Amino acid sequence: MTDEPLLLRALRLEPTQRPPIWLMRQAGRYMAEYRAVRERVSFLELCRTPRLCARVMADAVERLDVDAAIIFSDILPILIPLGFDLDYLPGDGPVIRNPLRADDDPSRVPERFDPDRISYIFETVAETRRLVPREKAVIGFAGAPFTLASYAVEGGGSRLFTRTKTLMRAAPELWSLFMDRLADAAAESLLGQIAAGADAVQIFDSWAGALAPDEYRRYAAPHTERLLARLKGKAPTIYFCAGNPALLPEAARLSADCLGIDWRVPIQEACRVVGPKFAVQGNLDPAVLLTDKKTIRAEAARILDAVGRRPGFIFNLGHGVLKETPVEYAVELVRAVKEFAVSPS
Ligand code: CP3
Repeated sequence: MTDEPLLLRALRLEPTQRPPIWLMRQAGRYMAEYRAVRERVSFLELCRTPRLCARVMADAVERLDVDAAIIFSDILPILIPLGFDLDYLPGDGPVIRNPLRADDDPSRVPERFDPDRISYIFETVAETRRLVPREKAVIGFAGAPFTLASYAVEGGGSRLFTRTKTLMRAAPELWSLFMDRLADAAAESLLGQIAAGADAVQIFDSWAGALAPDEYRRYAAPHTERLLARLKGKAPTIYFCAGNPALLPEAARLSADCLGIDWRVPIQEACRVVGPKFAVQGNLDPAVLLTDKKTIRAEAARILDAVGRRPGFIFNLGHGVLKETPVEYAVELVRAVKEFAVSPS
């Protein structure tokens, strides 16, 4: 099949002529087209309007000429059908007005999750698939249970995650029940996205790095594995566990197909730690995209050299595109990766 997305071959660890490339947060405030859309609709309205989500992502994919479109959506709206009052405040990011607390009754955690309440996400996948060329992969996504729980318990973003860490230790049964429900909700979301046409799915564990390895093993990993187990055989999975390189050996025990690597660890070291079983995705520091074209090219070349011909490498950033990024610098990165990889220096 000639138009099979390069990303899918890399996820199966098959040799590819060059590594596929896409960028986390490739559609967002750094793009004028996106800012224009956001002048007309709030972020939550945008997430609930599949036609606009698909347009925003398809335009970004065309502009950057990346190999994959992650759907335009967010990890947090899944909390709404679970009873959380979610809002996004300009400048402040997400807030949850009724966070879960350690002394809450377990009956506050709904027994089951109704995927019909997030059908707009499935429509976004189908609509994105229609707009994006066949040879580019469409990636669905969800938050990992720990990262979702951290928002639901802290009531928004956090730096130290003190409430979350207190709840998981002080109320381990409530924690475990809630984490299982989040894993089930994320599984329902991702299965629906796969049914709607997602070629692969990514699970974002943006804040797992707040945990030490033994805490991660006990309080987070089993629930992430519960989610991954439900996706086995349905579509390839990418697990992005950010913030703490000491968690990589733990992540490498999970049954994902690919591990996303943040910028805090040299890519060759990450490849060594996770071993040959996993595809690997990463890990250019997004701050490099604020420098200049020469530096961007040099840093991209450094990563490609370090990875060498390892099968199953997907070029990406080590975290999302920063909002100050000049679009032409992101375009330059994609161009550089495609050139270097075809004619290695
Ligand atoms: O281009 C893409 O990658 C697709 C869309 C996407 C968004 N959020 C759009 C978004 C994806 C994949 C996400 C994932 C997401 N959302 C994560 C995991 C990845 C990461 O960044 O660690 C997390 C933690 C969230 C939660 C979230 N949503 C936060 C913390 C914020 C506010 C902070 C910020 O960067 O503005 C959001 C809002 C959000 N999600 C925006 C976008 C484009 C900005 C909304 C706006 O002001 O227009």
